Amino acid sequence: MKKGIWQEFDGYEEIAEEIEFSFKAGKERSFDRLMAGQYIRQLHPRQLKLRIVDVIAETASTKTLRLAPVDALLPPFLAGQYIPLFLEINGIRTSRPYSISSQPRQTGYYDITVRRVPDGLVSNYLMDRIKTGDQLDSAGPQGNFHYNPLYHDKHMVCIAGGSGITPFMSMIREIVECGLDRTVTLLYGNRQPDDIIFHEELERISARFDNITYIPVIEKPGKTYTGACGFINAALIREILGSMSDMTFFLCGPQGMYEFCLPELESLGIEKRKIRKEMYGPPDNICDHQGWPSQIEAEDRFEVKILDGRTISVRARDPLLVSLENEGILPPSICRSGECSMCRVKVLSGKVFQPAGTPVRKSDTQFGYVHSCISYPLGDLEIML
Ligand SMILES: Cc1cc2nc3c(=O)[nH]c(=O)nc-3n(C[C@H](O)[C@H](O)[C@H](O)COP(=O)(O)OP(=O)(O)OC[C@H]3O[C@@H](n4cnc5c(N)ncnc54)[C@H](O)[C@@H]3O)c2cc1C
Ligand code: FES
Repeated sequence: MKKGIWQEFDGYEEIAEEIEFSFKAGKERSFDRLMAGQYIRQLHPRQLKLRIVDVIAETASTKTLRLAPVDALLPPFLAGQYIPLFLEINGIRTSRPYSISSQPRQTGYYDITVRRVPDGLVSNYLMDRIKTGDQLDSAGPQGNFHYNPLYHDKHMVCIAGGSGITPFMSMIREIVECGLDRTVTLLYGNRQPDDIIFHEELERISARFDNITYIPVIEKPGKTYTGACGFINAALIREILGSMSDMTFFLCGPQGMYEFCLPELESLGIEKRKIRKEMYGPPDNICDHQGWPSQIEAEDRFEVKILDGRTISVRARDPLLVSLENEGILPPSICRSGECSMCRVKVLSGKVFQPAGTPVRKSDTQFGYVHSCISYPLGDLEIML
């Protein structure tokens, strides 16, 4: 038999013998492997208990929750990643992802910064009912929205909308606190000046560090406002950046911001590979989405039959995952944006709407799997969990 390269390594014989002994004994007896497993679980825990150690009011509609570990070390993360929170509110068990706004070398706590969404289940709960000392369930940090020196230019153009500032705050804090060799131009859109989160800190940082430029852009300014106004469009980006070579664009914010800003970047000739976009949850109003069948109304109701015999009534405008959770049926979920695949269900009959660009694997489509967090019923369905 051909010899594998690993057989050349020092200690191969001893390890092979130990593995053979462990198999014969019917048990995993390797101390090293147990230790490695423990270490991996510490870095990527399935469950992480966090205690609120501080609640910081940022704006009238936004609070930062400072979260310290209850019984373990905090796993490390990359600036830009998020943590999922698992909660039970009014009898409904659900989860939501929140980007970490503190910087990664701060290892004692994670900050998350939450903005109230009108009628939103979790954001209102976190804003109104959570207090210092409460515990929250989470899992380790997740997500691919972070700087990667192999692919991204040192000059990052960050375009944020509303609460979409949070991953950029983590990146900017890390750059200035750790002296990283990176340049950031941040364009931060909000409806009114009072809505801007972290305004004073961003102004302080950009005044002190030449490599950080901060441009707030206000959609509906008062008469006395003198800064950039309107939307973050191609003309403003060109005026601020001049030549746009050797820059990577990072976008994070509500769906409407992507729908407006992505064509603007395209009109400037920015290549797709130079644009990174964070998933930021399901669209606000799916019925306004391109491709939504006009004959189906938001409040239309359908039946979903689950293979185990249960049948539930669902609303067209709600993602399938939300309808299942409302009935106490809990597919696992992490990103709630179609990215992580945790919430997959198999559609045995019927049709669902998935917004264009939903990242579904080819094999999933082939075998009828959909991401329930970003799939909307277009009629009666039969599904398998
Ligand atoms: C990777 C990732 C990171 C995120 N990081 C943050 C963060 O740092 N801070 C933060 O505040 N939020 C963040 N979010 C959004 C957050 O996960 C929730 O979606 C948000 O708090 C609303 O949840 P809710 O339960 O209050 O609203 P829901 O009950 O889920 O929604 C109620 C209604 O509001 C609409 N809606 C849902 N989300 C939004 C929204 N963001 N803006 C406008 N309308 C919405 C829905 O379509 C629905 O009609 C992030 C989302 C993702 C995917
Ligand atoms: S929860 Fe991640 S794809 Fe649905």
